[in-house]
Amino acid sequence: MTPYVADPVYLNGQFLPLAAAGISPLDRGFLYGDGVYEVIPVYSRRAFRIDEHLKRLQATLDGIKLANPLPVDAWKEVVFKLIASAPWDDQSIYLQVTRGADDKRDHAFPPATVTPTAFAFASPLVTTPAEVRARGVAAITVPDLRWSRCDLKVISLLANVLARQQAVEQGCAEALLLRDGWLKEGAASNIFVVRDGVLLAPPKTQLMLPGITYDVILELAAQHGQALEVREISETELRAADEVWMTSSTKEILAITTLDGQPVGHGKNAGRPGPVGEQMWQWYQDFKNTVMRKG
Ligand code: PDD
Repeated sequence: MTPYVADPVYLNGQFLPLAAAGISPLDRGFLYGDGVYEVIPVYSRRAFRIDEHLKRLQATLDGIKLANPLPVDAWKEVVFKLIASAPWDDQSIYLQVTRGADDKRDHAFPPATVTPTAFAFASPLVTTPAEVRARGVAAITVPDLRWSRCDLKVISLLANVLARQQAVEQGCAEALLLRDGWLKEGAASNIFVVRDGVLLAPPKTQLMLPGITYDVILELAAQHGQALEVREISETELRAADEVWMTSSTKEILAITTLDGQPVGHGKNAGRPGPVGEQMWQWYQDFKNTVMRKG
């Protein structure tokens, strides 16, 4: 059977088999969820937008006041080595940094002598089967019960975990998070809406993760002259949308065709992926193939 995690993994300066990688049970990632992470897609053994992912990693570390254990070039070396060692051409690289393990449990930061735990591994990129993409997926809406710094990519993901589980239990692929009547994002994705040919994107605030895929989509919209409005989207607008999509590094662009059991869209496109999303998916593939798969 193909393993989910490739050997070796990276842990605190060493490359070693997953089975030999161990950390203290007092690690603050384990005790408090006190850490950060990144997920970087890899196509044809090239890391997509690695600079942007490492920049967001730094922004999140700054946001939780944790010094980056590695300079950018050293992170790149780790990522490139993991990619080269893994058996797949298309991969997903996971990076995690926690505030390390003290010799006691105390909410406040440990002394400076405690070093962060840095962990990274490669797994195969799990892509959406063509027939699922062609049909679109079902989603539910749930209240956004997360904290007020959702712009930070932190490992304390309990509210996201519970929201996603609720979706799975209802046979759905994603949970859309609504806060005070406004659409923020998905449990593990950004959400876009199309109304009357205009692409609507919620703005980057502290209540949404600034997605790397989100940025690519905004760039592609600008480049191709797709009408775009970056502004808050109300629950009413969401429910009246012509199209709804989820985006992430691993899902790319995926149409949500059923929301809370109701078909998304109108007329002949009701309950089916719409034309703006299909066009954006094609632009995304073309862009990816141009920058990643050639040469
Ligand atoms: N999740 N919003 C949330 C809450 C996310 O967890 C993610 C990604 C995104 C999309 O960001 P990006 O386009 O940079 O992947 C938005 C990753 C894939 C995860 O948690 O596995």
